Amino acid sequence: MAGLVVVGSQWGDEGKGKIVDLLAKDADVVVRYQGGSNAGHTVITGKGTFIFHLIPSGILYRGKLCVLGNGVAIDPGGLIGELDGLKKNGIAVGKRFLICQRAHVIMPYHKAIDKAAEQAKGARRIGTTGRGIGPAYVDKMARVGIRMGDLLNPDVLKQKIQENLVEINAFLRRIYKAKGFTVESIFKEYQAYGERLRPHIADVSLVLDKAFGRGQHVLFEGAQGTHLDVDFGTYPYVTSSSSCSGGACTGSGVGPTNISAVLGVTKAYTTRVGEGPFPTELHNEIGEQLMQRGNEFGATTGRARRCGWLDLVLLRYAVRVNGLTSLAVTKLDVLDGCEELKICTGYRHEGKLYREMPADLKVLQECQPVYERWTGWAADTTGLTSYRALPTVAKRYLARVEELSTCRIDIISTGSKRGDTIVIRNPLDRSKKRAK
Ligand code: GDP
Ligand code: IMO
Ligand code: MG
Repeated sequence: MAGLVVVGSQWGDEGKGKIVDLLAKDADVVVRYQGGSNAGHTVITGKGTFIFHLIPSGILYRGKLCVLGNGVAIDPGGLIGELDGLKKNGIAVGKRFLICQRAHVIMPYHKAIDKAAEQAKGARRIGTTGRGIGPAYVDKMARVGIRMGDLLNPDVLKQKIQENLVEINAFLRRIYKAKGFTVESIFKEYQAYGERLRPHIADVSLVLDKAFGRGQHVLFEGAQGTHLDVDFGTYPYVTSSSSCSGGACTGSGVGPTNISAVLGVTKAYTTRVGEGPFPTELHNEIGEQLMQRGNEFGATTGRARRCGWLDLVLLRYAVRVNGLTSLAVTKLDVLDGCEELKICTGYRHEGKLYREMPADLKVLQECQPVYERWTGWAADTTGLTSYRALPTVAKRYLARVEELSTCRIDIISTGSKRGDTIVIRNPLDRSKKRAK
């Protein structure tokens, strides 16, 4: 094993933080490769509940190197807040936290544009997290972005801010009737962030190359999910980065030959936060029950997550576009007590049956899901750590998920705490033991 990529297979919030924390014990390096503080990854340990927006979820283990790759959009103020929070909790970060000098910086005007654009769109809004993610990636692609390395060079930083504000201020004032920004206020603030973060800014690609050279385990922590990916998601209701496994290479400066496995994290049902199509969404008391039992409220914005049945069309697509080698099924315990469970196996639209994920937004918005019905289980699975202890019906449900997704399950999560997990096979374990 060299590189293991962990990706969300749905619309985010699948429990990636919990799974990455669990696997980080056996890894040497944990890398975030895309997204920014739109992510909210929850890790619950004996020390309390931690929600990471930018810092990789491996940070809680001493001695693990945690890095932010070039593909991450970094809000330095938010990042410093997270580092201070860890310090308050007695977690020393020191030299084991690095940020790529090539990573782009989220500026105050990115957040202002994000919010103003959403407001202007009205009913057609994306439902973004308002963290400035989209506008920051727009600037990156337009080749006017500010990178972490620029924060260390006052002349370059000032010039870039000056040049950018000419267009940005005109845009904000004329199009959105919003306030503009002054060079001085942004410059001082961001130069100070640079000085504070200076000890952490490095050439991440080089660091990772050395880690691979030493034969170390590198864990790539995806943010968002497959169906929020800018290319493969339900466009335009997506985020603005490559959250699929391919993003791990372009977002960290690592060649694809270093990736040996891809783990897809999938909830035992489906959730989505923000706008966009969701074929298996439940607008009834079962949806409400899943939301309450699963505590489905956004870790970043606190918004209620929309809930629905497990969708195997989505999952099989995730297996394909990420090259998933195995699955981690989370929140199985939330299904305890459901009399009946449904698995979506296809979509019906205007007389046509879709077994594969359609790219056409209209089909996704208007289709009727085709369901298989399963009897649920009454037993409490919370905290189970052994596959054998699962109710027989739950085992059958999981076997069906493996069959329909064409991907084996390595991990089953039965609660939010680190220990509430059934590890059938640890994807980072060199001995390849199976416990089933
Ligand atoms: P992420 O963005 O993919 O890391 O997921 P979030 O942290 O945003 O959301 C997942 C939520 O589910 C968090 O509140 C976790 O503590 C919780 N969670 C993770 N796994 C399980 C599980 O197996 N069972 C239950 N009940 N909660 C879980
Ligand atoms: P984690 O890593 C769930 C959603 C937003 C919105 C869309 C675009 O915790 O799984 P953005 O602010 O990125 O421009 O918003 O993407 N979104 C997420 N939904 N989990 C996330 O991250 C998300 N990050 C962005 O709600 O619909
Ligand atoms: Mg989340």
